[in-house]
Amino acid sequence: MSNFKYIKNKYEISKMRIAGKIAAQVLEMIEYYIRPGISTNQLNNLCHDYIVNKHRATCATLNYYGFPKSICVSINEVVCHGIPNDKEKLKNGDILNIDVAIIKDGFYSDTSKMFIVGKASNISKKLCNIAKQSLYLAIKMVKPGINLNKLGKVIQKFVESNNFSVVRDYCGHGIGKNFHEPPQVLHYDNNDCNDILQPGMIFTIEPMINVGGHDVYVTHDGWTVKTKDNSLSAQYEHTLLVTNSGCEVLTLRSDDNIPKIINHSILI
Ligand code: MF3
Ligand code: CO
Ligand code: CO
Repeated sequence: MSNFKYIKNKYEISKMRIAGKIAAQVLEMIEYYIRPGISTNQLNNLCHDYIVNKHRATCATLNYYGFPKSICVSINEVVCHGIPNDKEKLKNGDILNIDVAIIKDGFYSDTSKMFIVGKASNISKKLCNIAKQSLYLAIKMVKPGINLNKLGKVIQKFVESNNFSVVRDYCGHGIGKNFHEPPQVLHYDNNDCNDILQPGMIFTIEPMINVGGHDVYVTHDGWTVKTKDNSLSAQYEHTLLVTNSGCEVLTLRSDDNIPKIINHSILI
């Protein structure tokens, strides 16, 4: 078995660091604007201008297989791929995911986080927190030699022990000169995803977690994914580099509660 095709060289890694930093900064920038009354299209336009004019980068979702906007905004029971629009305005108590993917110098990065509008319910806050902690748990396992399927196992076990469910229909992915590359990173226990991690691999982990069941459907716009039972859903996503001793979170933000570089080797 060879994972050679997934391994990035030093040049590619240096470019991925730059791309990762930009996507992280977009999510830091937009936090200030999250308040009742702002439309999801206004959030889209703020992110678009910042990516294009401030960073001279490209919005990866814009025109991606026909996706019409520069970010995805997914509110409450929307699981992922929500399309920003003028009609949809944030309300007190909403939870929303903003998913940002950009291209800089030909290299992609991809990251998302949850925002809470005003005062949210306890279940909303718990859902967002469990989604974030499930991502962190998986990130802390990433190091050379471990099997990719361990990540899904740990995420599913943690999420289900908190009585939430893990969406099965969407997964994390390798990323580099392409938005979506092998390997697939499943967020639940499975035997299909059997790659052994090696230094130089770069991929996303992006668990989608529901209050109710794991079933989802795509709505009539062809993009927006919702929970079948209309329950709330939350997602966090980071782009990660496997290092010699652990991993580096390429899309780390100032509000993250994990180190940028996670080193598992104990040097005496
Ligand atoms: N950013 C998403 C991901 O995490 C992909 C969005 S594709 C779009 O892989 F077309 F819906 F924008
Ligand atoms: Co992704
Ligand atoms: Co994404």
